Parts: sequence; C-alpha cells; structure tokens
Amino acid sequence: MASPLRFDNRVVLVTGAGGGLGRVYALAFAERGASVVVNDLGGDIKGEGKSSSAADQVVEEIRAKGGKAVANYDSVEAGEKLIQSALDAFGRIDIVINNAGILRDRSFARISDADWDIIHKVHLRGSFLVTRAAWNHMKNQKFGRIIMTSSAAGIYGNFGQANYSAAKLGLVGLSNTLALEGVKYNIHCNSIAPTAGSRLTQTVMPQELLDALKPEYVAPLVLWLCHESCQENGGLFEIGAGWLGKLRWERTVGAIIRQQNRPMTPEAVRDEWSKICDFDNATKPQTIQESTGTLYEVLSSIDSGKGISMNSTSQQTTSSTTIDPARAIGKKLPPSMYQYSHIQPILYALGVGMSTKEPDHMKFLFEGSQDFCCLPTFGVILAQASFMSGGLSTVPGLNIDFTRVLHGEQYLELYKPLPTSGEMRSEGTVADILDKGSGAVILLDVNTYCGKELICYNQFSVFVVGAGGFGGKRSSPKGKATANPPNRPPDVVARDVTSVDQAALYRLSGDWNPLHIDPSFAAMGGFERPILHGLCSFGFSARHVLKHFANNDVTNFKAIKVRFAKPVLPGQTVQTEMWKEGNRIHFQAKVIETGEIAIAGAYVDLASSVNSLESKAAVQDVELQSNLVFEEISRRIKDVGGELVKKVNAVFQWDITKNGKTAAQWTIDLKNGSGKVYPGKASGRVDTSFTLSDQDFIALVMGKLNPQKAFFTGKLKVKGNIMLSQKLEVILKDYAKL
Ligand code: NAI
Repeated sequence: MASPLRFDNRVVLVTGAGGGLGRVYALAFAERGASVVVNDLGGDIKGEGKSSSAADQVVEEIRAKGGKAVANYDSVEAGEKLIQSALDAFGRIDIVINNAGILRDRSFARISDADWDIIHKVHLRGSFLVTRAAWNHMKNQKFGRIIMTSSAAGIYGNFGQANYSAAKLGLVGLSNTLALEGVKYNIHCNSIAPTAGSRLTQTVMPQELLDALKPEYVAPLVLWLCHESCQENGGLFEIGAGWLGKLRWERTVGAIIRQQNRPMTPEAVRDEWSKICDFDNATKPQTIQESTGTLYEVLSSIDSGKGISMNSTSQQTTSSTTIDPARAIGKKLPPSMYQYSHIQPILYALGVGMSTKEPDHMKFLFEGSQDFCCLPTFGVILAQASFMSGGLSTVPGLNIDFTRVLHGEQYLELYKPLPTSGEMRSEGTVADILDKGSGAVILLDVNTYCGKELICYNQFSVFVVGAGGFGGKRSSPKGKATANPPNRPPDVVARDVTSVDQAALYRLSGDWNPLHIDPSFAAMGGFERPILHGLCSFGFSARHVLKHFANNDVTNFKAIKVRFAKPVLPGQTVQTEMWKEGNRIHFQAKVIETGEIAIAGAYVDLASSVNSLESKAAVQDVELQSNLVFEEISRRIKDVGGELVKKVNAVFQWDITKNGKTAAQWTIDLKNGSGKVYPGKASGRVDTSFTLSDQDFIALVMGKLNPQKAFFTGKLKVKGNIMLSQKLEVILKDYAKL
C-alpha cells in the first residue's frame, strides 16, 4: 500500500465538532498528525442554548489518544474568532471543515422568519464568515483545503426542509466559486452531501439505520479531499454507508425555438417541450464558459440566420454534416417575405459604397430624386431572407454544420427594375447538389415575386466544407457558370476604398453573420479580423460596371454572376477590372493592398451598353493608384512629421508616369516645418527626385519590387542626392503600408 495520508504540521478547524460527523472528522485528523481546533457552540439541534462540554469532550478524547487539539465554543457566526483560536494555539490554519449545523424543519407555509434566518446564519453565513477569516492566511501560505457540508435535501429537495435545502445548496454555489478563486493559491474547495446517523437524523431514521450509517463512513472522503496530494477542486460528493460518488450537472441537447427577427413565443416552448427535456445525448457542461459558450453559439447562429440545429453544438459540429442529395434535391424552402420602404435600398446603396460626394449616386441615395431607383444588386437582399432565416435547415436530407458553410458563387437575374418599395415573397428550391470532393455545393434557386409578378431570380451556391465525397456529380446543367475574362488588359478599371465600417454598415441590410463584425467570431474562422461580406464587394463591383457601361441606367441591367475567391477586409481598396464583349461585361475585383483577386470569373449582362470609346475614356479617368498611397503617407506622417523632419531633413519629389507620360507629381517635404506631403512640384529646393510608373510605384510600396533592382533596370530614375533615398525607403516601409 502507498504511504498513509498524514496531516503532520497541518492545522485543521472543524466546526460543530462536538458530536456527530464533526467529532469523527476531528478525531481522524488528529489521529493522522493534525493539530485540531474543535469548535462547537454546544446548543441543541434547533440552535438554542450553548455549552462548552461538547467541544471539551472531543478535545479530551483527542488528547487522550496523544493528539493535539484545542476547543473553541463560539458560534460559527463569529467566524474570525474561530480562526483566531487556530492561530493562537497553533500559529496557522490549513484546513477548514464547515460542518456545524442545526435544523428548523417545518412545512413551507409554517416557516417563520426566525426559522429561515437562523438556518441561513448557521449554515450559509457561518461557513462564509469562517472561510473568509481563513482565506488570506491560506492565500499567503499558498495552501488551503476547505469543505462545505451540503445535503441531499438541498440537491434533491426534501419535504419540510425548505429553509435548510436552500442554505445547503447555497453552500454548493459558494464552493463552486471559491474553487475557481482559490485554485491559483492552491486553495481547493469541495462540497459533500453526507448521510450518517447523528442527533440530526434521529428524528427521521430508525435506530438500526442510525447505528448502521456511521459517521466513520464519511470521514475518509473528507480527509482525502483535504490532503495536500488531492487535486480535486470544486467537486460535489454524496457519501454514506461506505459508498461515495461524485455529482455533476447534465444538460439536454435542448432546442432553439427563436428565429431571426421573429418573436419568441410560449407556444414554441410548448411545442418543443419533449425535445427540450430529452436527456438523450445530454452534455455535461463543467464551467460557466462551456455553458455560456453554447448560448453564444446560439446567438451567432440565429443572428446569422443559419437556423442551426442544436444537434450540431460544440462537440458534434464537425461530424454532424450529412447530405442525402436524393432526399434534398427539388425540395422547397418555406417561403419568406421581405417588406421594405425606400429606406432599405438607400441603406443598401450606402452599404456598397455609394456616397453623396458623387453627384451620380444621388439617385440611389435620395428618395426625393426625380429618378430615385434601386441598385440592381439589391435583388440579392430581397431573396436572402429565404436563405438567412434558416430555410436550408428545414430541408430533409440536409443535415449541415452551418459553421462550415461558405458562400461560393452568386447569380442574379432581374426581370424588371426593382421597385423602390414593396412586399416581396421569395420561394427557394434546392436545385442541385454537387460533390466537389473537399465539400458539397448546394445550388439554391430563389424566385422573388411581387404579388404574382416574378421580379428576380437568384442562385446561391453554398459550399459546405468537408461535406463532399458522397459520390455525387461534380457539375450540374442547373448551375449558372462563371466566365473567364478575355486575355487582354482590362478595358476599364475603377477603384473604391471600402471604409473600415463597411461591413458594419452593409450588415444592416440583413446579413447578420457575426463573422463580419465580431473579432472573436472572425478569429474562430481563422481571419485576423472581421471580413467584408462577399455580397458587399459584389455590390461595389456591380455598380462600377453599371456606371462605366450603362451610365447608371438600371433598366439596362439584366444579370450578374460572380465567384467569391478571397475575402476583402473592411478598409481595403476594391479595384474592378472590366472587359467589354458585346453586351457582356466581364469583370474581376482585385484587392489593391494584397493584389489578390476577391471576385473572379464574373460578368454582368446588360440589355445594351454604352459604346466602347466612352469606356476607353473611362480608363483615363481612373485615379492613379499611387495617389492613394501618397494620401495615406500624408495622413500617417501628420502626427510624427516633426520627428521625421529631424531624422530625414530632405525634400523628395516624385514624378509618376502612366503609359510613358508624367501623370502626377507629388512632393514629400521632410525638411521644412513639421513636414508635409502634397501633390505637385516641390515649392522649394528638391534634394532627391524620383521618376517611375504608377504600377512600379505600387509594386515598390508593396515590397514586390526591390528599389535597387528597379534603379539598375531603369524602372526607377533618381536625380540628386541618391543616398537620401535610403531614408525614404524606411518611410515607405513604415508609412505607406495600406
Ligand atoms: P450534529 O447535530 O451531530 O452535529 C452538528 C454540530 O454542530 C453539533 O454538535 C452542534 O452543536 C454544532 N453547532 C450547531 N450550531 C452551531 C453553531 N452556530 N456554531 C458552532 N457549532 C454549532 O449533526 P451531524 O449530522 O453531524 O451534522 C453535521 C453536518 O452535516 C451538518 O451541517 C448537517 O446539516 C450535515 N448533514 C448531515 C446529514 C446526516 O445524515 N447526518 C445529512 C446531510 C447533511
């Protein structure tokens, strides 16, 4: 047998140790080397009267066996005094057994205030006061073991013991929190619910049982829990008659009965009652984080309209996806309604970057405009309700883990310009399901009607990561295909900087997925910060096409198809590169800061388009990319300009070329005043001047073009003090990062 558990040099306080369980604990600790404070008020079981004899007798017993013990006769309500006894007698306190107890049993209606209060004072408040008095000593010595004595009456309830049950379960709550607060100081706190024959149980148990349920059958658990080698903390144990076991909370899988933007009703609770109470597959949350984590998941899934099925919570998410195409294809989603006034189209237009700064945007932003109209891509908003409000989760054969769903592609076709207000009904159908190996693609067709009139048709391609490999087909004639752009430089390029709040604004149009606003949710998805909605950058690019090829005439817009290739982060610059091929405008959206293609294989089909000469002219109108960088440098050096002037002390001029001609000039003055960056030639003497193309400038800033290499290959021309250019390199690195 391993070495016996000893308590030499440990000081133990056992409250209510004058009889019953407490006496046996005190004797057992003393027998194993501990110094024991035997506390007992010496009253009757109702808490009346007092006497020193109970505690004294136990102290005598311990001493008679060669153990160390002192008596304390205070009520546990004088917590400090009890601990002081330990300190006075033995100089420390290591272990506190909160055991003192009384009863005031009455059926509930007959419980007096006094009955209630005294039970709470002795059991709950007494344990609190004694433990608090010991706490700092334990903390300082980085060791402490605490026992709270609960009861089955508290855990399960017991007729006639309402006051006692409440206090006893209160002790478990107290213990749970002390376990958390104490753990870093090696203070452990556990609760026990004992059953033993004592004067407290005399009235409820026959004598034979009283004799059989010896307190000695409880003490070993208390000693083990209080030993320095025991790491148990925050546990609750039932013990009696030689048996003991541990308790924990169990929680049903439950049911989500709320839907996005709909009231939560008692009828829904009634209807789901058997599911709510079904302990099959129950979980056992152990921490408050686990418990609230589920709620967080639920909020996220409801707010993102994913209509999560609670069968796919935490542990089960990754494995829960099963797709049965045979059952799902052709199934209809519940129809969804979308009612809107002029506000929603305006909010949407702002969400996709329209601005009152642009006169030709006003007709999308001001309901009083003569030609007020809806952006054609608002058509996705009309239809998304059917998808967002959890429609897919109602489809038989689709058991999807919605945390693994990505928006892959989107097709939208308008049959008439969208009304600026109205009530729309959308009907969704699972058109097909494809097996892409790494995942499944669900093609969801949604027809949107105003009354009986078909207004638009959307096809959402939903990619479910990890749900492939079911032996399905890889493509479908029902899928609207993407189209690659022609193999030549784009005919027109347009660019817009998204605002850092772009996603926060766009989501107000109804896509509440927290991935686009909540940093911790985004982190769970592996993103450094919340990403822009794919359909938001889609909106940016679509209006670039509409402007440059249809003069913003919405009647000209027929259809759009996109594939979402990479996310855009709010604040990044979206550049739409467009190619005209008849009435089809191919386009792709590039993130300037990363050079990555965010939207690929995309096109807009127009009824007719403005002629290509105008399109070519538009190329000339497009801002130089370098302008953005200079503006950014200007903004960033504002705060630190003075410091940079001291360090650099030079004026730099930039000649930016496009198609071999100077297209812009910029001056970075880090010599005069507190420094500034301005367009045009330097007003005074220039120390170093640089000439390079807009494109090479961007490559340089992005770190894709090495300055030395650019210089030696003739891409970058430098005049004046060439050595100063090194200082500039540092500035570009630190202040031009977009
Ligand atoms: P007990 O009556 O033999 O022991 C309780 C001791 O606490 C008594 O010696 C009493 O004088 C002392 N005491 C009462 N009020 C006090 C106060 N204000 N300050 C200091 N000491 C005080 O009863 P038993 O059965 O040994 O109970 C010990 C603990 O176990 C109690 O907390 C009780 O509620 C709990 N318990 C006992 C069960 C059992 O089956 N015996 C069942 C569930 C819980």
